[in-house]
Amino acid sequence: MTATIIDGKAFAAGIRARVAEHVTRLKEESGITPGLAVVLVGEDPASAVYVRNKGRQTVEVGMNSYEHKLPAETSEGDLLALIERLNADPAVHGILVQLPLPKHLNADLVINAIDPAKDVDGFHISNVGLLGTGQKAMVPCTPLGCLMMLRDRLGDLSGLDAVVVGRSNIVGKPMAQLLLGDNCTVTIAHSRTKNLAEVCRRADILVAAVGRPGMIPGDWVKPGATVIDVGINRIPAPEKGEGKTRLVGDVDFASAVEVAGAITPVPGGVGPMTIACLLANTLTACCRAHGLTEPEGLTA
Ligand code: GUN
Repeated sequence: MTATIIDGKAFAAGIRARVAEHVTRLKEESGITPGLAVVLVGEDPASAVYVRNKGRQTVEVGMNSYEHKLPAETSEGDLLALIERLNADPAVHGILVQLPLPKHLNADLVINAIDPAKDVDGFHISNVGLLGTGQKAMVPCTPLGCLMMLRDRLGDLSGLDAVVVGRSNIVGKPMAQLLLGDNCTVTIAHSRTKNLAEVCRRADILVAAVGRPGMIPGDWVKPGATVIDVGINRIPAPEKGEGKTRLVGDVDFASAVEVAGAITPVPGGVGPMTIACLLANTLTACCRAHGLTEPEGLTA
């Protein structure tokens, strides 16, 4: 059997189109334009690319984008003062502080200074607690994107065995909470898990989020399972020429595609969903801030 390849690029484009449609209606009916502020401290090149893409896509769906680029040596006090200003600004519905921050800044302190209602990353401790207790929260973008793809592929997830490999605060833990919220039987596996292969083979839904290139081979995949590969790993690709690299996931795609029922590729799977869900979260935050009906199908 060869798996269906889940096209994350097309899926993300569909989400952006729905967000854009809702934004147009919001502007026409209420005169409100959702606004997303992105804060970048320092000059990490990968972060700069992310921030540029976020800004471009924010404008493309009709929202306002506010970019704040601060020097690497910015003090914690100055960064917190900016966040206070953004918290108080009614034109800003979502705030994202790009991670990682320079080492002299306490990321937990900074993230927890964001108004939870504007925390479109879903990283604030209040949102973590709300998600963990099954209450309405801002949900981290990457796991939200994975959930959307799973619901689209499988419909009702109730009773399915889900295995999440990886226990990060950004992906693994919130992913597990979301799957639990959709009535899956959830296992969180990690580097110390015994018999990881056996655990993975039980999964109807296998989510890989460990950051180790190709660590999950096809013979760890249950036949027909839905495999969501969150890993984005850059590895040398001498076949493309000297010094060239390519992106691979945490799943060995070539072998897993022969066993799974459906699988996300890398690149072009989960990756494009993250910014699409960020835009969806910004729209949701805007609707909540104004007491308006939330867009359907764009939240957990
Ligand atoms: N750095 C890499 N991915 C992300 C993300 O989703 N949110 C933030 N804030 N920083 C990141």
